[in-house]
Amino acid sequence: MSAIDVSGLTVRYGDVLALDDVSLSVESGRVTGLIGMNGSGKSTLFKTIIGLVRPTAGQVRLEGADPGSARRRGLIGYVPQSEDVDWTFPVSVRDVVMMGRYGHQGVLRRARAADKDAVGEALERVELTDLADRQIGQLSGGQRKRAFVARGIAQGAGILLLDEPFAGVDKRSEATIVRLLRELAASGCTVLVSTHDLHALPSLADEAVLLLRRVLFHGSVDEALEPGNLARAFGLESDADQEETP
Ligand SMILES: Nc1ncnc2c1ncn2[C@@H]1O[C@H](COP(=O)(O)OP(=O)(O)OP(=O)(O)O)[C@@H](O)[C@H]1O
Ligand SMILES: [Mg+2]
Repeated sequence: MSAIDVSGLTVRYGDVLALDDVSLSVESGRVTGLIGMNGSGKSTLFKTIIGLVRPTAGQVRLEGADPGSARRRGLIGYVPQSEDVDWTFPVSVRDVVMMGRYGHQGVLRRARAADKDAVGEALERVELTDLADRQIGQLSGGQRKRAFVARGIAQGAGILLLDEPFAGVDKRSEATIVRLLRELAASGCTVLVSTHDLHALPSLADEAVLLLRRVLFHGSVDEALEPGNLARAFGLESDADQEETP
């Protein structure tokens, strides 16, 4: 059984066909890079996997479970694209990371020592301990990303989805996040991460998926980065992005 199993997934937003018959299996203990041009459906794929978007057709299984129950069991962590986060929300960095512990707490959501320890340790790992009490919006872009990565770490999720965690992030923050994701995968976590940073892909990912509404390619990073494959994925070739939505 794959950690993430997506089959025949089609997603429409009204007239827009965002995903077209996507099938994909992602194995545990690996970092898989999700590559595709703007509008190719990366965020839609993440949102459908986590259960925020309901597919028009097809299904998602997370270690055999449907997205709703996987989410309730804290099996899956999600670092949304920055544009999808309300940064004015009045919560501190520590609060954001503690949200990752909700699945471990009772209905009263009272943080126990184990929760506080997990949050403290996750903040250390992303080097944000000093900024823990700041409102989340008062961090730089790279620090915000690291805060959300810490939330996923504190959650102890077996599956972690990260939507462009390197966008607007400097080399040091990027290196920190890459190292953390490699460590998580080495400890058995399944990591699916979208990125536009193709240079970092070989050090980040064990395998890569090229998405353009459909899965164009799924295999080794080296092969994914071959010019012909990239040309297809980025719509630079005649047959890549010609189809209009029916
Ligand atoms: N809520 C929505 N309502 C209508 N159309 C949407 C919605 N969200 C996304 N789309 C459309 O679906 C397609 C896929 O969008 P999506 O955000 O998944 O792409 P993406 O690969 O994440 O792009 P980017 O690299 O810019 O983040 C685009 O054509 C987009 O305009
Ligand atoms: Mg996106």
